[in-house]
Amino acid sequence: MNIIELKNIYFEYEEGEPVLNGLDLSLGAGECLLVLGDNGSGKTTLFRVLNGLSFPSKGEYLFKGVAITADYLKDNSQTKRFHKDIGYLFQNTDTMLFNSRVYDEVAFGPRQMGLTDSEVDQRVMDCLRLFDIEALKEKVPYHLSGGQKKMVALASIMALSPEVLVLDEPFAGLDQKREASLLEFLAELKAAGKTLIIATHKEEMFKDLVDKVIRL
Ligand SMILES: Nc1ncnc2c1ncn2[C@@H]1O[C@H](COP(=O)(O)OP(=O)(O)OP(=O)(O)O)[C@@H](O)[C@H]1O
Ligand SMILES: [Mg+2]
Repeated sequence: MNIIELKNIYFEYEEGEPVLNGLDLSLGAGECLLVLGDNGSGKTTLFRVLNGLSFPSKGEYLFKGVAITADYLKDNSQTKRFHKDIGYLFQNTDTMLFNSRVYDEVAFGPRQMGLTDSEVDQRVMDCLRLFDIEALKEKVPYHLSGGQKKMVALASIMALSPEVLVLDEPFAGLDQKREASLLEFLAELKAAGKTLIIATHKEEMFKDLVDKVIRL
């Protein structure tokens, strides 16, 4: 079974100006999809649909065989499970961070899951280590640099160990060292069977990872 299926998806912000125009897509578990396209072509819009933040005006979105609709996500436990399964790195990381301490930012998801304090602490520290940002633990996320914010956002996503990662321009604003280590990390995730969906203007960087490409 495909982990993600989009069938004839339409989306428009303004009537008569469709951004997504009859989009079809199927993605198997463990595959890596690159989403390419010029500025304004609809990559972020597609990602909002994939994460249940926007709903298509027409067409069907199935995640693990379940139709993701506004109605489906009205159920709190279903929403929780869905957001545990799919992690979303926003293009603009600023809008993702809302806690007053990096530690709490990364702990937020695990706490929502009802883990004990020591389990939460274990996860938070593991995820901070994963992105080499233990030193930022007590900092205010809002005051961090753009690249540091991105690392904190990634750590908070990984704290729920999602099966699918949706990454909107993950390399934008990263220095070469961070870029290289993030690429290595994504390769490890793929080897571990995670599904990756990545919007990028740096197609060539993903040549060893990519299974499918769509251009919007
Ligand atoms: N909230 C909104 N209201 C109205 N129009 C919007 C909204 N968000 C995006 N759009 C429009 O939808 C189109 C697609 O935008 P989107 O952000 O999905 O593009 P993108 O491919 O992610 O671009 P970029 O490469 O610049 O990130 C653009 O024409 C944009 O102006
Ligand atoms: Mg975008």
